[in-house]
Amino acid sequence: MDIVAKTLYGLEEVLKEEVIALGGKDVEVGNRVVTFKGDTALLYSCNLWLRTAISVLVPIKKFRFADEKDLYRKFSKINFSEIMGVNDTFAAKGAVNSPLFNHSNYPMLVLKDAIADHFRDKFDKRPDVDLAKPKVLFDIHIDGHACTISLNSSGAPLYHRGYRKNTGDAPMNEVVAAGLIYLSGWDKKSNFIDVTCGSGTLPIEAALMANGIPANIARKSYGFQNWKSYDQQLWKSILEKAPAQPRRDLDFEIVGSDTDGDVVLMARNNIKALPLGKTIRFEVKDFRDQEAPEGKGVLISNPPYGERLKVDEIGELYQDLGNFFKRKMPGYTCWVLSSNFDALKKIELKPSKKIQVYNGSLSCDFRKFEIFEGSLVEHKYGHRNQRRTPKRNKRK
Ligand SMILES: C[S@@+](CC[C@H](N)C(=O)[O-])C[C@H]1O[C@@H](n2cnc3c(N)ncnc32)[C@H](O)[C@@H]1O
Repeated sequence: MDIVAKTLYGLEEVLKEEVIALGGKDVEVGNRVVTFKGDTALLYSCNLWLRTAISVLVPIKKFRFADEKDLYRKFSKINFSEIMGVNDTFAAKGAVNSPLFNHSNYPMLVLKDAIADHFRDKFDKRPDVDLAKPKVLFDIHIDGHACTISLNSSGAPLYHRGYRKNTGDAPMNEVVAAGLIYLSGWDKKSNFIDVTCGSGTLPIEAALMANGIPANIARKSYGFQNWKSYDQQLWKSILEKAPAQPRRDLDFEIVGSDTDGDVVLMARNNIKALPLGKTIRFEVKDFRDQEAPEGKGVLISNPPYGERLKVDEIGELYQDLGNFFKRKMPGYTCWVLSSNFDALKKIELKPSKKIQVYNGSLSCDFRKFEIFEGSLVEHKYGHRNQRRTPKRNKRK
């Protein structure tokens, strides 16, 4: 069958690698999607394992239509009672880009009518719409006169991992966190540290990866479980094969720290739902006082962007972050995600890479700073010496 995994801008290539690793065939990358072919086992596995997918769709019909009446006619040809029961609630979401509709929600209403009429004709009864928690979720994608209607096999988005009970003020989406970790190139064999960890999304996603535990090990339900075609035995066998224990042989550290004791407590509570054992060390600490775990590794920080801080305070925070990298993180690769480009400049280190990523609706830079051994010495004396030396020579 055809399968479509939706993702966020900038994460298509990492999602492609995940899909290939799971066994997807004919894998292709599009704009915020990865399309591929596979069987029902792959579809279920994608929902359990994919760390950078928002949802996994199965297209049921692709067609062109002339107008809204034609759209209804084409929807009506789908045998909806083969997909869902009359007592199952449903909803439709998606994207509409067509001059045929003034209101992007209109095609969803057309589908609702087609489904209601289908069931009324057959059973003299119609299923209800439930926008908040539908049992069966359809996805409609309309571009001009072309329509693809799909079943959303995930239901609620896959960043609803099931482990997060509480969050701080600006929690990171789990899909973004996993995507950043992949983009950072962390090898899962060296230390991982987040010194502004909030409720712990980055260290938790890193720990799941390091232990080879599926992204959605704590999630309780998926859309496909409400389909008539649901194969419970198959799902059970996929779940049973998934590792659900922390590895005992990890010889590096995963650390999350933050100044705010309340959010660190949330992070500690969040991992209770996960089989991570003692993989993560959470600490209440200002990053200025943090020490890098011995050895090499990757640091990812998602500092405040400054909405709640004064301009000079936020500048100072980023400047201190840069100084902390130079002083305490030699040997590490440090990455910072922020939408505050002025503040990012205050880090005063040259990024070796900049990747555009969206954190929610905010366009951010994900910047890479390689902190070589001896960076502090170069930073303190390197440039000045280079400038002073020729001047002295000149005087001679
Ligand atoms: C954008 S939030 C991080 C959200 C986090 N990625 C999550 O998923 O919950 C920024 C965090 O930086 C923390 N922070 C601010 N100043 C800090 C400092 N000097 N040292 C450590 N953490 C700090 C805040 O307490 C806040 O939790």
